[in-house]
Amino acid sequence: MKNSISELKTFYRSPVTPGSYFISLEGIEGSGKSTQIKHLETMFSDRGYRVLTLREPGGTEFGEKLREAILKSTTPLHPLAECHLFLASRAQLLKEKILPFLLQPKSVVILDRYLDSTLAYQGKARKLGIETVLELHRHEPLNLIPHRTYFLDIPLELSYDRQLKRGSVKDYFESEKSEFYSHLIEGYREMAKLFSDRILTIDASQTPEQVSKVIDQDLDNLLK
Ligand SMILES: Nc1ncnc2c1ncn2[C@@H]1O[C@H](COP(=O)(O)OP(=O)(O)O)[C@@H](O)[C@H]1O
Ligand SMILES: [Mg+2]
Repeated sequence: MKNSISELKTFYRSPVTPGSYFISLEGIEGSGKSTQIKHLETMFSDRGYRVLTLREPGGTEFGEKLREAILKSTTPLHPLAECHLFLASRAQLLKEKILPFLLQPKSVVILDRYLDSTLAYQGKARKLGIETVLELHRHEPLNLIPHRTYFLDIPLELSYDRQLKRGSVKDYFESEKSEFYSHLIEGYREMAKLFSDRILTIDASQTPEQVSKVIDQDLDNLLK
């Protein structure tokens, strides 16, 4: 029998080195993740933290190969194949980079996408199911969850506007239809409710400065 979502949540833990933090940024393309990560890097460096920023999928030599395999794929992958590729990249990233770095005192790992992207993309938009994706993360090292996740919430139209301005080429996911993206946004919002103690939703249609201010206020509490 499958475990319920609330049972599955009990398998997760945050890193425990006192004074070190694991932070992730989530949201659709153009929501401002890269912009706010730069801000977070400055905030933490100014406070004397060692900072390591990583992106998913990728972040290790092996993971970057998987990133290419997924994002440059010209054939549609089975959702479970897609999910396992992401998880392989994540497990390696945790082993090689995240866990060793967080053993150091006063360190922070900032991740550009993590677990909630898999839940929203493969669990919701690709319809694998939230329980299935959570189940796949129940064992070490994949059961490591951030202390805090900033979900930058923007409407789909704004994502298109910002991507157009940025002028980037569409990858494997970006060429999906708008229905896929609507499910994706729904998925992120569901995850924000499910993990309300960890995920802070920010209205990211505000200016970058306004978004940073919300993050700063939260950090003041988090780092107390
Ligand atoms: N709050 C914001 N308001 C307006 N434009 C923004 C905001 N945040 C980011 N941008 C711009 O939108 C584009 C996408 O932002 P980016 O930080 O790269 O998003 P992501 O990493 O989530 O795809 C960039 O050109 C960036 O300068
Ligand atoms: Mg980015």
